[in-house]
Amino acid sequence: MKILTIAPLALLCLLAVALSVHGYAYDFFYFVQQWPGSYCDTSSGCCYPTYGKPPSDFDIHGLWPNYNNGSYPSNCDPNNPFDLSKIQDLVSSLQPNWASLACPSSDSTSFWQHEWEKHGTCSETVLDEHSYFQDALNLKSMTKLLSCLKSANISPNGASYTLTSIKNAISTCIGHVPWIECNKDASGRYQLYQVYICVDHSGTTLIDCPIFPTGACGSSIIFPTF
Ligand SMILES: *[C@@H]1O[C@H](CO)[C@@H](O)[C@H](O)[C@H]1NC(C)=O
Repeated sequence: MKILTIAPLALLCLLAVALSVHGYAYDFFYFVQQWPGSYCDTSSGCCYPTYGKPPSDFDIHGLWPNYNNGSYPSNCDPNNPFDLSKIQDLVSSLQPNWASLACPSSDSTSFWQHEWEKHGTCSETVLDEHSYFQDALNLKSMTKLLSCLKSANISPNGASYTLTSIKNAISTCIGHVPWIECNKDASGRYQLYQVYICVDHSGTTLIDCPIFPTGACGSSIIFPTF
């Protein structure tokens, strides 16, 4: 009798302790980079930032906290809004590497604000705003997707490549299998749009993805120029 009543309570206490030690409300991150050529050549098009055309390289989309079951938390803390002054020292790196291609043209700060408020605040117990943006920049230089692909003779030249060869080139380079998201160009052909790489909850270490997103892609996809 006694054990029966105490056991659930003890379990609850353990859970509470485990959660407070754990300290984060997500399991891992998707680090998502987009190919600007594929963002821009859809039927809706794109607008270059006010500070000019970004480099012909993958562009950071975001660092997204995710659960192992595939769902994800969002907009976790309205009391911790984006504050540009906290990342002033990163702006010159963010502008070319985390550029907004949305219309109308902007200086990208509203993109960073959206990413911080929707996704970043869900990892704020681990990464403050500055670490969040700094970690994403570090992850981009750690992964070097374009050189990974180029070393497998896969270039943004408008040609078609097999999805398998793209995944293999990136896996060989970073040691983990990526997820490739496709979109469609103005003529409806599948193309290489975004690359998802998994990162542990610290935001610094690449891991095998606990779960992959879902979505349609051809077995052969275009890698457009930019
Ligand atoms: C996924 O896991 C999270 C955290 O454990 C939980 O809050 C959420 O309800 C789960 N969602 C689904 C669809 O199972």
